[in-house]
Amino acid sequence: MKPIQVGLMGLGTVGSGVFHVLQRNQEEIKRRAGRGIELAVVSRRDVAQARAIVGDQAQIVADAREIIANPQIDIVVELIGGTGIAKTLVMEAIAAGKHVVTANKALIATHGAEVFAAAHAKGVMVGFEAAVAGGIPIIKALREGLTANRIEWIAGIINGTTNFILSEMRDKGLDFATVLKEAQRLGYAEADPTFDIEGVDAAHKATIMSAIAFGVPVQFDKAHVEGITKLQATDIKYAEQLGYRIKLLGITKRREQGIELRVHPTLVPAKRLIANVEGAMNAVVVQGDAVGTTLYYGKGAGSEPTASAVVADLVDVTRLHTADPDHRVPHLAFQPDAMADTPI
Ligand code: HSE
Repeated sequence: MKPIQVGLMGLGTVGSGVFHVLQRNQEEIKRRAGRGIELAVVSRRDVAQARAIVGDQAQIVADAREIIANPQIDIVVELIGGTGIAKTLVMEAIAAGKHVVTANKALIATHGAEVFAAAHAKGVMVGFEAAVAGGIPIIKALREGLTANRIEWIAGIINGTTNFILSEMRDKGLDFATVLKEAQRLGYAEADPTFDIEGVDAAHKATIMSAIAFGVPVQFDKAHVEGITKLQATDIKYAEQLGYRIKLLGITKRREQGIELRVHPTLVPAKRLIANVEGAMNAVVVQGDAVGTTLYYGKGAGSEPTASAVVADLVDVTRLHTADPDHRVPHLAFQPDAMADTPI
């Protein structure tokens, strides 16, 4: 069977990871997907830089819309980020009948309802595993592995930049600004690090997990968001003396009155596993009524860890598309369920 054809918009750090993972593991991926996955076209404004990454292994276009207009392309991967042009292109790709795989947490958290409704109407899939906690398959865990459970709560370190900052301030006694610069140099931080340090990035991810876990619509605007900018080295030191670590947690919880959704610095007893998640690592704890407490740990950012999640979605979409090419089930597009009206 002809390999499924993929067009990738935004060949940057994660995009090059996707290219390398697909190349390196192509035999295993083909076996698991039941069909080859071919990265046929990539877009990047600077074509020469794209050429340096993909060589002659894919067609390169400067304009992402060429991918959407290409009738050969089955799946569009969106790695541009943000809610501007990326949103327009995702909506256009869906309207053109393409499946979409994205790592765009801001897009899903703030416009997910619109994106999923369009995908549902068109009968295409939207995969967004890479939008939350990078390489940790937390969306799959919530949607599939824990599907038998009534989820009670989720709490996670879901922003690597702020966890790195808090770890370095504690371990090396460095000040906030110095460590933030280092996080930017290491490529953990967003292009605008305000989203990291003000808790917005973590709130995007918590919003998405909350929607999946509780079957409510994605409603970022309802989240309580507080970052780490007001923390001082002395807060971290005193917490330590009292037997606690300060962690920026994304928390969502089922309550009598509705769903709680919040991001803020939290005192975590030092002996807890999650208190010992250091540097830019991510960890998510999920409490289900049947399974009890489960913990997911791994790299929440970076080229190949995030690519790992993007390619997992490509495999899922390929399997489902190939099994049911005419009546495409929008399996990966999230739809609120029985709790859709629950207040947050
Ligand atoms: N800026 C994000 C972080 C990148 O620090 O976790 C991954 O979403």
